Amino acid sequence: MTTLAVTTSTAASARVNCIVIGVAKNAKTAEKPVLAPGADALNEAFEGRLAEIIHVLGMSGSPGETLKLPAPSGFSADFVLAVGLGDAPDASEYAPEALRRAAGEAARALAGTERAALVLPVSTAEAAEAVALGGLLGSYAYTAHRAPGDDGGPVGALQIVTTAEACDDVTAGVRRGTVIAQEVNRARDLVNMPANHLTPETFAAAVQTVGAEHGLDVDVLDEKALAENSYGGILGVGQGSARPPRLVRITHTHPEAHTTLAFVGKGITYDSGGISLKPVGFNEIMKRDMSGAAAVFTAVVVASRLELPVNITGWLPLAENMPSGSATRPGDVLRMYGGRTVEVRNTDAEGRLVLADVLVRAGEDGPDAIVDVATLTAAMKMALGHRTFGVMSDDESFRDHVVDAAGRAGEQAWPMPLPVELREGMKTPVADIANTGERMGGGLVAGLFLKEFAPAGIPWAHIDIAGPAFHEGAPYGYTPHGGTGSAVRTLVRLAEDAATDAPHQFPTPR
Ligand code: BES
Ligand code: MN
Ligand code: ZN
Repeated sequence: MTTLAVTTSTAASARVNCIVIGVAKNAKTAEKPVLAPGADALNEAFEGRLAEIIHVLGMSGSPGETLKLPAPSGFSADFVLAVGLGDAPDASEYAPEALRRAAGEAARALAGTERAALVLPVSTAEAAEAVALGGLLGSYAYTAHRAPGDDGGPVGALQIVTTAEACDDVTAGVRRGTVIAQEVNRARDLVNMPANHLTPETFAAAVQTVGAEHGLDVDVLDEKALAENSYGGILGVGQGSARPPRLVRITHTHPEAHTTLAFVGKGITYDSGGISLKPVGFNEIMKRDMSGAAAVFTAVVVASRLELPVNITGWLPLAENMPSGSATRPGDVLRMYGGRTVEVRNTDAEGRLVLADVLVRAGEDGPDAIVDVATLTAAMKMALGHRTFGVMSDDESFRDHVVDAAGRAGEQAWPMPLPVELREGMKTPVADIANTGERMGGGLVAGLFLKEFAPAGIPWAHIDIAGPAFHEGAPYGYTPHGGTGSAVRTLVRLAEDAATDAPHQFPTPR
């Protein structure tokens, strides 16, 4: 695993294999790129011609570009890595996302390198956090089940170069960035873990282990306890599998907290569709269906490690959705936690069933707000693509708060409506509600189903991460192939908002 440190030694004296510098695009397009602050000493060693050399070698400073050069004499490093930062900012600070992407790009280009110094424009805590986060997220690889490749593995050590003056701020930012990156990478590991390795039972055990390590309270209900407490949704989804379901509760409390949040994450360790079986082409990708639970779990761990003055209860309904002689059939009626009944028209609409139980249960504790995160619908992926998640709520101001928090956390989010007319399609003569309705607007139908179970009087929002939870293409910036850790940073930002906001800033109850 890549380590990260802060140093005030000069670029020339840093005992590393590589020096990383930032290069921005020149506003007057055809001209040579602009060197970002930090590269001065190196530029001098190149007799002031570094930007020109980089230009001649074909680099413009666009995001995603990297270029390797031999280090000049007088430097102990072997080579220089220039990384694109995009447009040079008008203000003195580069945008955090530009720094995160560039640091991630650099970390990936440095695979196989032992030590590198990052001399990027970092003088504030925010910029330092961005570089740390990008560097550690970019160096991530899931290698649990394969022999080491010939790429030499992830970069060994990254050093963030700063001045003595900025060192305290930079160190604080790096610490935050490191904690968040480590937990996002933990979420990625869980998402990438195949379903024969990650089961409801082993997932629950992992939460217990990590919880104990960080002083968090963890409580696990097994299938017997779930039956005793009438969790009909979780049991109905899990009953077709040889691996029984679990409900995990992980709690962070802080003595100075004035706000309590409940986070709920969909934890289907594998979604075959059940008796409404998914066809070939759609079932290979369904180990990812616990990404919401991974996000909730790791966000609570971040809150604990950063000692955020807020209380958070993380709820993880964990089940495997499989077809078998004991599986729920299409047409079956389940009695959910709290007593309402659902006709299961389609066993592949299972996420909303496990979430419904837990939304009701979470409401019993009277939190100040509830946010659920789920890989809930293919329809949301159709609507918003692979990089943006949808946010729904019957409380527009809370929905917009969540979208805004995502933006501040560096995640792409978009507000989606809950049109009342779509409720009609879930009417059924045999139960209180059916688990599917109209096909068109399927992401919103799922949101409307959840709304029925979201406790009255408590602000609630639903985040559908079906698109961004798993990146199917080639890596870019700090995003690897596979599990992305989508929504972890948004949940952390929401927790921070709740830690600092006065309670009345939460939206008006429904
Ligand atoms: N887990 C899937 C949604 C999904 C699809 C997530 C692709 C990530 C990538 C969910 O359980 C599901 O199967 N939803 C159905 C609902 C339908 C049966 C109403 C869907 O979206 O097709
Ligand atoms: Mn499904
Ligand atoms: Zn699913």
